Amino acid sequence: MLQLGLIGYPVGHSLSPWIHNRLLAQSGLEGEYQLLEIKPENFHQEIQKLKKSSLNGFNITIPYKEKILPYLDETDEAANHLGAVNTVKVENGRWIGYNTDGIGYVHSIKNRFPDLSFPDTRVLILGSGGAARGIFFALADAGCLKIDLANRTVDKAAALIEELNLKVKSSALNLEDAALQLANYDFVVQTTSVGMNPDTDAQIISLDNLKENVIVSDIVYRPMETQFLLEAERKKARLHFGHEMLWQQAVYSFQVWTNKKLETSQMMQEFEDKLK
Ligand code: ATR
Repeated sequence: MLQLGLIGYPVGHSLSPWIHNRLLAQSGLEGEYQLLEIKPENFHQEIQKLKKSSLNGFNITIPYKEKILPYLDETDEAANHLGAVNTVKVENGRWIGYNTDGIGYVHSIKNRFPDLSFPDTRVLILGSGGAARGIFFALADAGCLKIDLANRTVDKAAALIEELNLKVKSSALNLEDAALQLANYDFVVQTTSVGMNPDTDAQIISLDNLKENVIVSDIVYRPMETQFLLEAERKKARLHFGHEMLWQQAVYSFQVWTNKKLETSQMMQEFEDKLK
């Protein structure tokens, strides 16, 4: 019986149990996925208890993606480079850390745009926080050669480029310049929380200068159709939605734990209906 779960604080609104219980059912494996809420003051103690438990794997969310690192026996390349882990597999008592955030994102892009040539795609990432970090790394790993970062605080974008030191051409821009120079890009991904509040029509940048057929992606999944994506649709962009990333990250975590690669398009449809 597979014992899986999610560590974080708070975790009450997580969609992960819904997703993983369906993946378990589809795979034919017996198991359960539990929410393991840990208060910050109990973190060390609770992790020690989990080390002795029969857990086979777990996800880690805010605020523990970095804090878990000292408790791991090994980390994969993405986790190593990013200094953050969102998935742990327990193998013969050893805890192995993975970061599936960015790779899940790339899987979801490949799924939606199977013919996309990453080396020929000029990318603009809006934002320079934790989510941007994973996506920046994974797009470079997937073969993109030109990835610029635009951020409200431009120094943070420049610092991220310097810190990750990826083998790509990258510039740091402020948001105003990014909006003016939009015609230079084939793929724009919005990684900030702007757009999460359905009561405002706030958008990180105007898409007036967007070319037709550009891929526009927003990692916000609630609401599924952000103002940013709605405007992109009016500009005849090809859209990619936040829930597609969320879904593929979960599928990839499940694959790490079980070595099972599942066909999940039908389930993703159900997931979309649940989010609507
Ligand atoms: P996450 O881990 O979800 O990426 P984060 O690390 O807090 O969250 O990063 C948030 C990102 O959203 C940052 O790029 C932030 O810009 P700053 O670095 O200038 O703070 C961006 N962001 C958040 N609110 C914003 C707003 N109202 N306008 C523009 N950018 C915003």
